[in-house]
Amino acid sequence: MEYTEAWLKYRRLSLSRQQCEEKQYDSLISYAVRVDQGLKESPCFAVLISEFERGVKALLGERPHEVTDGSETLALAVDPAFGSKDAYCIDFTQKDGFGAITAHDVNGLLYGVFRLLQLVATEQTLAGQKWTCIPSNPLRMLNHWDNMDGTIERGYSGRSFFFADDQVLVGERTRAYARMVASVGINAVVINNVNVRSAATYLITDRYFDKVKALSEIFAEYGISLYLSLNFAAPMELGGLTLSDPLDPGVISWWKEKMAEVYAAVPKLGGFLVKADSEGRPGPFTYGRDHADGANMLARAVEPYGGRIIWRCFVYNCQQDWRDTKTDRARSGYDNFMPLDGRFLDNVILQIKNGPMDFQVREPVHPLFGGLTKTNQMLEVQIAQEYTGQQKHVCYLMPMFRQILDFKTYLPGHEDATVADIISTRALKNANGGIAAVANTGNDVNWTGHDFAAANLFGFGRLAFDTAADPESIAREWAQLTFAGSTKEAIDAIVDILMRSWPAYEKYTSPLGIGWMVNPNHHYGPNVEGYEFDRWGTYHRANWRGIGVDRTTKGTGYAAQYREPNASMYEHVETCPEELLLFFHFIPYDYRLKTGKTLIQHIYDTHFEGADDAAGFLETWKKLEGQIEDKEAYARVLERLTIQAASAIEWRDRINTYFYRRCGVPDEKGRKIYE
Ligand code: GCU
Repeated sequence: MEYTEAWLKYRRLSLSRQQCEEKQYDSLISYAVRVDQGLKESPCFAVLISEFERGVKALLGERPHEVTDGSETLALAVDPAFGSKDAYCIDFTQKDGFGAITAHDVNGLLYGVFRLLQLVATEQTLAGQKWTCIPSNPLRMLNHWDNMDGTIERGYSGRSFFFADDQVLVGERTRAYARMVASVGINAVVINNVNVRSAATYLITDRYFDKVKALSEIFAEYGISLYLSLNFAAPMELGGLTLSDPLDPGVISWWKEKMAEVYAAVPKLGGFLVKADSEGRPGPFTYGRDHADGANMLARAVEPYGGRIIWRCFVYNCQQDWRDTKTDRARSGYDNFMPLDGRFLDNVILQIKNGPMDFQVREPVHPLFGGLTKTNQMLEVQIAQEYTGQQKHVCYLMPMFRQILDFKTYLPGHEDATVADIISTRALKNANGGIAAVANTGNDVNWTGHDFAAANLFGFGRLAFDTAADPESIAREWAQLTFAGSTKEAIDAIVDILMRSWPAYEKYTSPLGIGWMVNPNHHYGPNVEGYEFDRWGTYHRANWRGIGVDRTTKGTGYAAQYREPNASMYEHVETCPEELLLFFHFIPYDYRLKTGKTLIQHIYDTHFEGADDAAGFLETWKKLEGQIEDKEAYARVLERLTIQAASAIEWRDRINTYFYRRCGVPDEKGRKIYE
């Protein structure tokens, strides 16, 4: 086996005929298609029919057959009057023994089919039930940071299955991947790293057109648009120009011609993702231009082909001197992009990381959400667990994403607008928006290194499709599908571990929103001062008195970037949410938290608790031996939980020792703190 089917196993159900009838699974066996002839020729149609037949056959043991004489018990219908793009409704309420999936379009029907199969695989009763699903976000995207040599930047599950040895790979695994992510509603994919170097710059040349086109066509069968990351300096590196100035007429016409060539060769391309003026990548700043100049120039070049430019806001000074306490990396996204609000063309979308730093275990929501009022926006999260245990530790991120999506931004004129309202385009009348995740897949047998990390891939798709979805329900469905055939006790335990995993990770790593404290470069494992005297702008400022960064008006002024009342809430120690206390304030070790504990005691306690939680996950898993049907998956998870438990102890001891030695205050509970 080269790779597992993850949550698409479709294990044969062990239900009696009577149970199947009660749940109305018998109605899946004869179906009619109510889809216009033209749509039947769309690439997605054949896929959805074959998925349906294959899934039902696997689950129920009988292959469904199509009927045309009106005797069907299930209808698969496209009705453009229903919902909006990609929407579907699974309806078993209409009349006895009959069901229907009605979708706005063929892609919606594909999503409906996958969802119906998932409902059956988790043994839900269809009879009398109805599921109406209208996607929250226009774009539901994965960003792969795959390099063309086959490595993956921040990849923790093997090598790339898109590239090897500077070649584009098109094979069975491509299709298996497309199928897997489409089954949870993903509709756009960037295959190459945002840091576009060497061979990747040539993805927009005839060296790779054939393969890129082939990929785009496979993806299209699953309703997915292919995007590429772009090198802003391509006019120089490919075109031999002396500059990449976005306002230079030669550069403008080079890009226009280039895009004409690219779209002639790969007409299905969705567009491009651009990291510019960030961490050494080229961009408009070199020429005294701003990011609107850069993004709009590219947007004009792709506009004739319906292309989009997704422009990242991860722009900051990565050459800071740690002694400089006025420069604040957290401020930089807002400082760079807020003045440009309203200047971006309609086919530009700004992609904004969830927080102002870089995917830490806890960060405040990026102040550009709610700040920008006239710009298309996308939220960028990271399911590759760069700073959350690198897919060695279990860290189920949907509860974190839920909080981010629910954050109230106080967008002017829309007092209740959350991040979800903004990116979905509900609150801003913008045409484009959505959510992207830095992906966590690779060519490991289980796709994601840790089997439990697949819950983040599944969950991200689900949450992107329905931003109101409940993380625990998602976790349960994922566990039931992936660990089909295991005991109920095992499924409950997996859900419990997933739901407790992010809090546990937060407890044993950096405290109260301060972040970092990781080893430089690779970012795994504890190193409290790893970045403290470095140039990256990621300081915690701990000394003998206390710890934290003053981001109030007396400090860097970052808190004031939020709309009121958020700005005031963060400005004052008393109202600042405690989980973010050290992000916004410098706090003495003897400061009393709302629990009555001092800051230092809180640090000690949470680190002991977090390491105990990780040990508990391992103990729980050991007790489940024999209850997990897939023995290989059991062994893989056992190995990872063992690594996590040991690493959590290392985190606990390093962090506690550091602070004990800084302040000299002993643990009230007298536990051993290594010195
Ligand atoms: C982080 C990450 C880099 C990545 C960058 C980005 O800094 O460590 O590997 O390139 O984010 O998002 O562009």
